[in-house]
Amino acid sequence: MGRHADFLVIGGGLAGLTFARRASRHGSVLVLGKKQPDESASDRAQGGIAAVLSAGDSFESHAQDTFRAGAGLCNPEVVRTCIAGGPAAVQELIDLGAPFSRAQDAGGQGFDLGKEGGHSQRRILHAGDFTGHEVMATLLAAARSTPGITLLDHLIAVNLIVEPAGGGGVRTCRGVYALDQRTGRVETFTGGCTVLATGGAGKVYVYTSNPDVATGDGMAMAYRAGAELANLEFVQFHPTCLYHRKAKSFLLSEAMRGEGGKLRLLDGQEFMQAYDPRGALATRDVVTRAIDRELKKRGDDCVLLDMTGLAPDFLTRRFPNIHQQLLAYGIDMTREPIQVVPAAHYFCGGVRTDLAGRTSIPGLYAVGETACTGLHGANRLASNSLLEALVFGRRAAEDAVAWLPTAPVFPAAPREWDPGDAVDADEMVVVAQNWDEIRRSMWNYVGIVRSTKRLERALRRVQMIREEIQEFYWDFLLTSDLVELRNLAQVAELVIHAARLRKESRGLHFTLDHPQPDDAHWVRDTVLQLGPRGAPVAVESPLPYGWP
Ligand code: SIN
Repeated sequence: MGRHADFLVIGGGLAGLTFARRASRHGSVLVLGKKQPDESASDRAQGGIAAVLSAGDSFESHAQDTFRAGAGLCNPEVVRTCIAGGPAAVQELIDLGAPFSRAQDAGGQGFDLGKEGGHSQRRILHAGDFTGHEVMATLLAAARSTPGITLLDHLIAVNLIVEPAGGGGVRTCRGVYALDQRTGRVETFTGGCTVLATGGAGKVYVYTSNPDVATGDGMAMAYRAGAELANLEFVQFHPTCLYHRKAKSFLLSEAMRGEGGKLRLLDGQEFMQAYDPRGALATRDVVTRAIDRELKKRGDDCVLLDMTGLAPDFLTRRFPNIHQQLLAYGIDMTREPIQVVPAAHYFCGGVRTDLAGRTSIPGLYAVGETACTGLHGANRLASNSLLEALVFGRRAAEDAVAWLPTAPVFPAAPREWDPGDAVDADEMVVVAQNWDEIRRSMWNYVGIVRSTKRLERALRRVQMIREEIQEFYWDFLLTSDLVELRNLAQVAELVIHAARLRKESRGLHFTLDHPQPDDAHWVRDTVLQLGPRGAPVAVESPLPYGWP
């Protein structure tokens, strides 16, 4: 049995809920969550929201920092629009009651603005070191009490429904098939428009700061449906994830270095100044590559993040969550350095959108990490992602509200999902094996430092696995593991294709075979689309996307 809403939102993180709240003033909204509502990368964000909120700061300064990080590939109009939209977007959260940290020295009147790598100013609005969680709790409460919004969970999107519509028969998105993980049935959900807000794909790598849900579902579905995807070679690795045998993907916020934390080798030596005059507060691409180089040079397993130079009462007040979590692992950061390693953190690329969040498929929007708006270019500036989720969540909702009354009409109801002759899968070991193999190959061959040979090796492996999954997929009853594996393999293949296309090093993409940027040829995005032979092809198409 299907359900319909004016606005169908897939994903209930920051971007999805921001869209939902704005759109709900104009029609019904269905939000499909993959797991329970607090399972999102937004919920885990520690750092905060980059926004121009102090008298000493300016939009232009924030824009210049964003351009510098993005290494020549940011879209200037997107950057300026996003940054200018910051104060109003955060004001909405403040009005809803989000408990952002106040500055001690302003008598609690002003906000305590943090600093992170690549920022020339203190401009990170935060709620202790639990920003994402606090903001999401605020937004979820607001969404739950908004009559037009229905939040559903444990639904994993399987495939977009894209069919000819209107007089011209233009392929238009009208919804999604989603697997109800509680019943095992695939249900049909339709919307006047559909919004991908499914987050990133950090799980493509064996080491990641991302939650388990980050399997690139939106990117893979959009690609299969024929949408354009851009800049997938730019995967950001966060320099400091906890290195501990019991810790799974625990991030140590960049704000810790922003407040004075030092990066040291295991022998205690500081090393970042030798790589960049900004030291430990250089942009993430620089810091991550420096750590990778030192680890390889010395054969060490990790480096150290040393917070012991800061006053213990400041540390426990500014980073209460991190402090508690570390204590649970037996580490007291006020007294000893913390062992850290880089891990996959954020996809700068994704489903290509214009300034209104429109994708190349009419009726389909993408917001948040799933999308590639052009804000981040070749490397995202710290804490610009929550800002982008807020600003583009709002912008896409405004566009969708205006577009909906003009949306083309479909001649018939979509067909129900056909499970075919599927039988229960008893070979889950194959899923586990493929899952591990993809993630290890990606880490070893398509990670922080790449080469043509490594990319080729990875491509051969991933293509083989994709063929195997393809057979498996249609022979067995769908499970969420299988849906995720298929998506993971698809995104992995696209990352490799994009990385092979870019024959230079820029921002987050570094290859030994072309170690320098090539401005003459590569100050442009890589855009991929499903080709007629079932493999990705590079395309060039202008923005904005004109929909009928
Ligand atoms: C962090 O707190 O270091 C993560 C913030 C971000 O990824 O922007």
